[in-house]
Order: sequence, then structure tokens, then C-alpha cells
Amino acid sequence: MKLNRRNFLRNLSLGTGALTIGLPAFAKEKTNSENFSPNSKNGKQRFNMCGYAAPKLETVRIGIIGLGMRGSDAVNRLSYIDGVEITALCDKYADRVTNAQKTLEKMGRSKAKEFSGNEGWKALCESNEVDLVYSPTPWHLHTPIAVYAMQNDKHVAVEVPASKTIDECWQLVETSEQTKKHCMMLENCCYDFFELLTLNMTRQGLFGELVHAEGAYIHDLSKDWLFNKNAYADMWRLKENIGVNGNLYPTHGLGPIAQCLNINRGDKFDHLVSMQTADFSLNNLANEIAAKDDFFKEFTNQSFRGNMNTTLIKTEKEKTILLQHDVSTARPYSRIHLLSGTKGAAQKWPGPERIAFGHSWIKKIELDELYKKYSPPIVAHIGEIAKEVGGHGGMDFIMDWRLIDCLRNGLPLDQDVYDAASWSCITPLSQKSVATKSRSIDIPDFTRGSWEKNKPTDLTLNGGATTRVRKYSTKKADN
Ligand SMILES: NC(=O)c1ccc[n+]([C@@H]2O[C@H](COP(=O)([O-])OP(=O)(O)OC[C@H]3O[C@@H](n4cnc5c(N)ncnc54)[C@H](O)[C@@H]3O)[C@@H](O)[C@H]2O)c1
Repeated sequence: MKLNRRNFLRNLSLGTGALTIGLPAFAKEKTNSENFSPNSKNGKQRFNMCGYAAPKLETVRIGIIGLGMRGSDAVNRLSYIDGVEITALCDKYADRVTNAQKTLEKMGRSKAKEFSGNEGWKALCESNEVDLVYSPTPWHLHTPIAVYAMQNDKHVAVEVPASKTIDECWQLVETSEQTKKHCMMLENCCYDFFELLTLNMTRQGLFGELVHAEGAYIHDLSKDWLFNKNAYADMWRLKENIGVNGNLYPTHGLGPIAQCLNINRGDKFDHLVSMQTADFSLNNLANEIAAKDDFFKEFTNQSFRGNMNTTLIKTEKEKTILLQHDVSTARPYSRIHLLSGTKGAAQKWPGPERIAFGHSWIKKIELDELYKKYSPPIVAHIGEIAKEVGGHGGMDFIMDWRLIDCLRNGLPLDQDVYDAASWSCITPLSQKSVATKSRSIDIPDFTRGSWEKNKPTDLTLNGGATTRVRKYSTKKADN
């Protein structure tokens, strides 16, 4: 976004309508997904966090851990929201904290407390000046930080995916239920405009009964991101692509369609099968780049993840989902977002966005009418402002605003810990299926039966929409 687009006055009244922690004993991972410990799969739910409303927080004091590419943008976005104070900042590298402080200053915000080093995040989680820990860190830190934050009486918003193993998924569920603290995964794609439109259209029955859905994360990250020394800190994301096969990043494609299918709220994932190609590009690329730059020598001759993972999920109500993951071949970006029902269908990628109620896609002018009629209230309320603030076309800001508004009004969050666990668990389970010639693998019911009664995510803004966006005339921090 250009700086001058940010330079408009915004004083809108929006209220009219917006460890190293030891593994807990409860969650010892077994090699077979059909065989979880009694406390998890077969145990009873301690407390149902679906629909749970925590006590209202007039001001949400946020501690942000991880101030890299995603985290530094989050500092900027969250600074626009009234009723928010960013009270603590943490990164392994102190200079990143210093940069984020500059953003706060430019946004007219007070200085935050600083934490750094490998384990500074623990002190942040223990701080009495934080209500919500917001964690855009490398994947291996998501669950340790989330669990420790909840144990220290904080709500937590954790970047995607929330966990890397089934064990970690259960840690999140058990800790959230025990502490009655929200654990929301920051699945921003659920707030993209077409995804919101199609979720509401599904609710209104326009597609009839959904039968099948498809999602993906197809995004060529290879040259410009994975092998870029100035992108992911300590090359963490390239390292994540070594020695494993499976869908490493399932939630962008899966979250929005899982909401349409009422997963954990009327239906649930039952089992999956997964298949993976070999790697035809990453190892070659590593060798090519290392021939010119010794820095990359350690990445040569590694067993890189196969390029394309395809996973099929079957739900309890016998619907199917196709999910793909490919970050290393040369093709255009896609999350697919296909919904196929008895009365209609939707598909976002490859563009243009399309809707059909029969044999042919409807015309653009008719799609525009559907946008007007069926976009849920949050879009009219905050959509235009979100486009101005930015973040993947606005969806990031819609997500942040909604999270804060729910916490300030004591409303249940749109995504709960069961969503975080069941959308993220596709990573370890797809790995298990790929490793066993695509064997069928059961998917745990993290709700332990409550999926049958849980209500779908609320698409109204009832009880909320009181959170305003700050007047600002400052430039986006250019550090
Ligand atoms: N939802 C989205 O659209 C989206 C987009 C990009 C990234 N992400 C997610 O955001 C997260 C961060 O990704 P990124 O692209 O910003 O990566 P990044 O490498 O730019 O940022 C990660 C930050 O975490 C810091 N860090 C590492 N170890 C730490 C520790 N022990 N304590 C404190 N800080 C530590 C790093 O120094 C770095 O600044 C990832 O989980 C990624 O999947 C989500």
C-alpha cells in the first residue's frame, strides 16, 4: 500500500451498525492415530471452549512475540485498533524489537516493554501487563508459546499452523479447556472477501447441501523466499521442508471450507489419505545456489519434501475435501476454494472468482449483486477500512479487528481451539499416510463428541461492533 493512501483522517464511529515446557502427561503421542491416550481421544471434554465467552476486556493489552515479516506487519495493523495497547514486544533478535518500537512511535502509541533472546518469550507470557499473546513465530514455537501463555492466564492468538504434531494439538485443547483461555489460530483466509461471501451463501442455502470442497496452498516460495537469506529468520522455513513429506501448511486452504462444512459444529473430519510426489526442484535449486554461495552448502543433498502433496479428507457426514500443498513448482498462486453443492458451486482460483447455479458460471454483474446481497455484516462494517489498512487485501485487518472486538465485548471467538487443532493436525496425519503408502488415517475428534451440538460460527455482529478504528494521519513505519 502506498504511504499516501494511509494519510487520510480516520475518526469513524463504527459502533452503529464492528516451555521449553515439558510435555504434559495428558498428551503422549502414539505412532498410530487410532490409539490416542484415554485422556485425549477417549476421554471426556473437560469444558467446551466452542461458543465460550470470556469476561469482557475494556482494553486488550497485547504482547507480540516474533517480529519478523508477519509480526512487524501485525504491530502496524493492531496499532490502528482502539481499545488495544501493545504493551510488550519480543523477538529473539533485539534489533527487531527496536524496529517494532519505531512503528509504535510512528503510530502515536506508547513504548512497549522489550523482551529478547531465545527464551524472552517466557517472561513476556508471565508479564502482568498482557491479556493477549499474539505469536507470529516459526512453527516449532507456536504450541510451546500458546500453552505457556494460557498457563500464565493469557488468551493466545497463534499464527498458522497452530501445531506440528498430534501431541501438540492435544496440548492446546487440554490447556485451553483447563484454563478457559481462548486459543485462536490466526487463519486470516477465513476473512477474505470471497470466502466470507461463500460462507454466508452456504449458510443461506444457496448451494443446497455441500457435497465436496477443495482447498490448497499453492505458492511458489522457492527462489524468492525459502532460499532468500533475508527472508525467514535463520532459514527456518527452508529447514522445515527437509526430511518430511506431507502437507506442511494446510490451514489457509482448509479453514474457510471447514467453516462452510460446519466442521466441529455439526460435522467433523473422519479420516484422510495422502499422497506425495518426489522432489523435482528443491534439491536441484539448493545445489545450483550453493555452487555460487557457500552459505547454502548445508542445504545441498538433503531429502527435501516432495513438491506436491494431495490429501483427501472424508467427513463424518460423508462429504469429501481435496487439499493440496505445493510451494516449490512454477505455477500461479492458488488456494482453490471450491465449494460444490446440490444447488450450486463456487470457485475462487484460478480466477476470476466464480459462482454457478447450474451448468454455467454466472456473469460478473450477477456476482457483484451476490456480493451486495450476501456479504456478511462484517464486510459492510469494516471491509473498506480493512482494504485501506491492508494486509493481504484487507483480510488480515478484518481478522484482527474481529478478534479484538470479540474480546472487548465478551463474545466467543470465530475460531476456537478445536478449529486450530483439527485444521493443523492434517500436517502430521498426512505425513503418516504418505509414509505408509497412502494408508487411511483416522482424524481425532478434538471436540470429543461436542461437535454434534456445537453451533456454527456467528456471522452477525450481534453484541459487538463497538470497537473503533483510530484516527490516524501517520505514515506506515518504513523500517
Ligand atoms: N497468515 C498468514 O497469511 C501468514 C503469512 C506469513 C507468515 N505466516 C506465519 O507467521 C509466522 C511467522 O512467519 P514470518 O514470515 O514472519 O517469519 P519470520 O522469520 O520473518 O519471522 C519470525 C520471527 O520470529 C522470531 N523468532 C525466532 N525464534 C524466536 C524466539 N525463540 N523468540 C522470539 N522470537 C523468535 C525471528 O527472529 C523472526 O523475527 C509463521 O508461523 C508463518 O507460518 C502467516
